[in-house]
Order: sequence, then structure tokens, then C-alpha cells
Amino acid sequence: MKLRYLILLKTLAIGVIPSSHPNTNDQTTLTEFIEKETSIAWQGILNNIGADGALVQGAHPGIVVASPSKSNPDYFYTWTRDAGLTIPAIVARLTQPANDDHALDRILQQYATSQATQQAISNPSGSLTDGTGLGEPKFHVNLTEFTSPWGRPQRDGPPLRASALIAYGNHLLTTGQTTTLAVASNLWPIVRNDLAYVTQYWNESTFDLWEEVRGSSFFTTAVQHKALVEGEAFAHALGEDCRGCAHIAPQILCHLQEYWDGGARAVRTNLPTSGRSGLDANSILAAVHTFDPEAPCSLEDRGTFQPCSSRALANHKAFVDSFRALYGVNRGRGVGTAAAVGRYAEDVYQGGHPWYLTTLAAGEQLYDALYQWDRQGVIAVTAVSLPFFRDLVPGIIPGSYFNSSDEYVTIRDAVRQYADGFLLVVQEYTPEGGGLAEQFDRDIGRPVSAVDLTWSFAAFLTATARRRGEVPPSWGALGAGPAPAPCRATSIPGHYATPVVGSWRVHDELR
Ligand SMILES: *[C@@H]1O[C@H](CO)[C@@H](O)[C@H](O)[C@H]1NC(C)=O
Ligand SMILES: *[C@@H]1O[C@H](CO)[C@@H](O)[C@H](O)[C@H]1NC(C)=O
Ligand SMILES: *[C@@H]1O[C@H](CO)[C@@H](O)[C@H](O)[C@H]1NC(C)=O
Repeated sequence: MKLRYLILLKTLAIGVIPSSHPNTNDQTTLTEFIEKETSIAWQGILNNIGADGALVQGAHPGIVVASPSKSNPDYFYTWTRDAGLTIPAIVARLTQPANDDHALDRILQQYATSQATQQAISNPSGSLTDGTGLGEPKFHVNLTEFTSPWGRPQRDGPPLRASALIAYGNHLLTTGQTTTLAVASNLWPIVRNDLAYVTQYWNESTFDLWEEVRGSSFFTTAVQHKALVEGEAFAHALGEDCRGCAHIAPQILCHLQEYWDGGARAVRTNLPTSGRSGLDANSILAAVHTFDPEAPCSLEDRGTFQPCSSRALANHKAFVDSFRALYGVNRGRGVGTAAAVGRYAEDVYQGGHPWYLTTLAAGEQLYDALYQWDRQGVIAVTAVSLPFFRDLVPGIIPGSYFNSSDEYVTIRDAVRQYADGFLLVVQEYTPEGGGLAEQFDRDIGRPVSAVDLTWSFAAFLTATARRRGEVPPSWGALGAGPAPAPCRATSIPGHYATPVVGSWRVHDELR
């Protein structure tokens, strides 16, 4: 009786959704925008990579420059993180059938070679001898050390670089473009150092990805875990040994659970919280950059933070809501409607405006979740994720909605519309020429801070690829959980060696 009543209530509620959405998408316009902006974003990335990038004269071959902006702010450097997040977008392009682009192979190989050099540069964080130098966040574009004071070390750089090189290595192995030996000799020596760094230093404090606070950072922990899991499989494929990876990865996964705030139904991204709420794009970026298309949504309290997990969805709601009343551009964008989002509400850097890449990531997480639901054939609405779903489908109750049901279609369509809304926000505030800066003004939406930010372009490409259902290969999240309990603060000393790269057969053919 009670059950039937609830189902009726739910059905009625679902029936009214479409009209309650003020954000009616003009699909043609969004599709057209994506098409046009995709070529601009591609060119934008290529413009910022040495040595041939049109906007980065003086950059070493394969060096990814953060932005051509040389003042207010000066981003004319290469950050290990930004490069590590950009390279996978290039690898993904190679895997698309129509894009057998040898120029991209050349860039990827030059990137690898440049990183072999970069790893060995002694710097204010330390040197390669004991691995400490790998934590240095940024270098001059001519591959020399940057010696001024900075938030260092940043321990997300090594795992992101390892994952980027593993993505390229796996692409080469899968396509049979080059020999296992070439991958082992050109990529593995670099990857091995970065993985050793993670097994040795994961449990020591770090500056966060915004280079502001020191402690533990959720994003850093999440990408460290992913790197060790895929590093183990990569080593195996090459007949190499990923020393300590299998032993340490579960401990990092355990530590990842310690950021969850059950009361707030959100991730406290920095520990200590440094006087902030803890709601931060850090967690959204962690979800999209550790997305595994084959991972389950469950394993809630011992698993990875998959985009479709209840925790990641509850966190998405809390995060997006924290910006609704903050920015003038969000006027009229109430709960359940996509909004412009920044890094975190307390942000004042360069005005603390909304960011393109975080708004894109908010959409990307939902496209990821949609992919995972469709693959698994079911959407689980749990007590934890209920507030997220209620905003989109009022009256929905906890339960498992299978793809044969009307509710499944209703939820899926509502989430897709919500996800598109974030791209529509980006579309609205993208200037005529299509350049994506770092931020856009909170009141008038005009671009602010660094122009042509490489990471903004990469974020655009990955978000729109996911929208088309293009996903990266699995990195093994399925086999990685559940995390052990209790957590153990163990580490394994790494072995480091100056990477000596061999020759690229693919590269040689290109010359
Ligand atoms: C590298 O670039 C930095 C910053 O522009 C400059 O100060 C330095 O002299 C350059 N070093 C070399 C060897 O070109
Ligand atoms: C080290 O690991 C323990 C156990 O997971 C954790 O409680 C602690 O916060 C970690 N510290 C850092 C700096 O990662
Ligand atoms: C529902 O999901 C299952 C499991 O993924 C799949 O085999 C089936 O084709 C899906 N059905 C529809 C109608 O999408």
C-alpha cells in the first residue's frame, strides 16, 4: 500500500520535470558551439607547446606552456600538473579513427623526451638522487629550474605525468605502432621514477593543486592512487617491476576515504581545512581525472570516487550550490540548474571569479556518470545521493532504477540536460574569438586572468568528448578496491635513476 503510494507520487513528480527547468537547451546552438570551439581549443593547445607553438617562442620541444600570458599573471612556465593533464587529451585524439596524426605522435614523443631531461634538473624542491626534485611544480620553458619562492613541493605532478605517459604507452602497445621494447626504453624509465616518488612520499604533506595550502589534498591523493594502480599493470605489460605499487596503492585508497564528511555529504578537499568550507573543484577534478568507464558506482565507503558514486554526486551538488548566490552571473540559476563555478567560494585569486575549466569539469563529471549508468544499465539513488537527484527529479525516492524503466529515462535525460547546462554557461561567456582564459568575471562574464589557458582548452576537449560518449580506457579501478581498514601510514623508499631515452622507431619514421 505504502509502496504503491510512493510509486504514484514519484510518477506524478517525474511528470512535471521538464517544465520546471528554466534552462531549456537549444541543442543546435550548443552543438554548433562545440564544433567551432573544438578546433579553436585544438589550435589553442598546439599554440602553447614548444618548439613550434605559435604563442610560445623559446619553449623547448615537447614543453607544454601553461599560457602565453607573461604578466598579470605570468604563466609563461611549464607546470608538471598542467602538462600531465593536457597530454591525455592529445593521446585521446590519436585514438579517434579519423585522427591518425603523425604530428601528434611527434609532440608526445618530444614531451616524453623533455620530461626525461626535466626529471634530472636539480631545483629548490631537491634533486633526483632521492626523488625530492620530482615534486617541483614548475620550470622555465627552456627547461631550467625556477628558483623564486613558491608553494613547493606539489606531489600531484609525478603521478599525473606517470599517468600521461602510461596513456601514451598503452596507446602504442594497443595499436602495435612500436615495439614493447621501445615503450620500455623510452617511457618506463621516466614513469618508474614518478611511481617511486609516489610510493615514497605520498604520505607527506603537499601544496594543493591551487598552490595555496599545505597539508593533504584530495585531488593529489586520488591521482596518486590511480597512477600506482595503472603503473602496476603497465609494468606488467612491459615485463618490468613496479616496486611497491601493489603494496602502497591500497593504503592511498584508504587515505582517500578520510576526506569524506558524512554530515556535509561532501569532500573536505584539504586537510587541515585551513579555515575553508572544504567544498572545492579539487574534488570534481579528482572525479573526472580518475574516471574509469568500467568501474562500478558502488563501494561507496571503500572505493575510488567514481563520477557516478553516491558520494561524488552528493559532493557535486554541495559544490555547485556553494557558488549560486556568490556570482552575479548565476542570478536566475537556482538549484537543479547548471551554474558558473569557480575553484572554491572563499577564493580571491585574480578576483576569485568563476573558472572555465571548473565549470567544464562540473559538466564532465555528469557525462562520465551517464556513461557509467548506461553501461551498467541501472541508476542507484541512495540516501547519500538523494539531494542531488531531487533537484533534478523532484519526488524521486531511493531505489535502483533499471534501464527498462521510465524512471531511468527520466533521470538520465534530466542529468544530461543538467550537464549540458554547464557547457551552455561556458558557451555564454566564451568571447567571440573562442579563446578560453582562466576565469570569467563573476558579474559580467567577461574573460579575466591568463588568456588562452592550455588547461582550459584541454578541459573543453575532454568534457565534450565525454558528452559524445568517448571515454578513456579502464585504468583498473574495478580491481583496486575495497580499501583496507584501518589505514596504515607506510611508505617504501624509491630508487631513482636519470632516465636515458632510447630511439623511437615511430619517431624515426617520421623524420
Ligand atoms: C631560461 O629562461 C630563463 C627565463 O626566461 C632565463 O632567465 C634563463 O637565462 C634561460 N636560460 C637559458 C640557458 O637559456
Ligand atoms: C598519512 O596516512 C595516514 C593514514 O591514512 C593519514 O591519516 C594521514 O593524514 C596521512 N598524512 C598525509 C600528510 O598524507
Ligand atoms: C540495459 O543495460 C543492460 C546492461 O548493461 C544492457 O545489456 C541492455 O542492452 C540495456 N538496455 C537498454 C534498453 O539500453
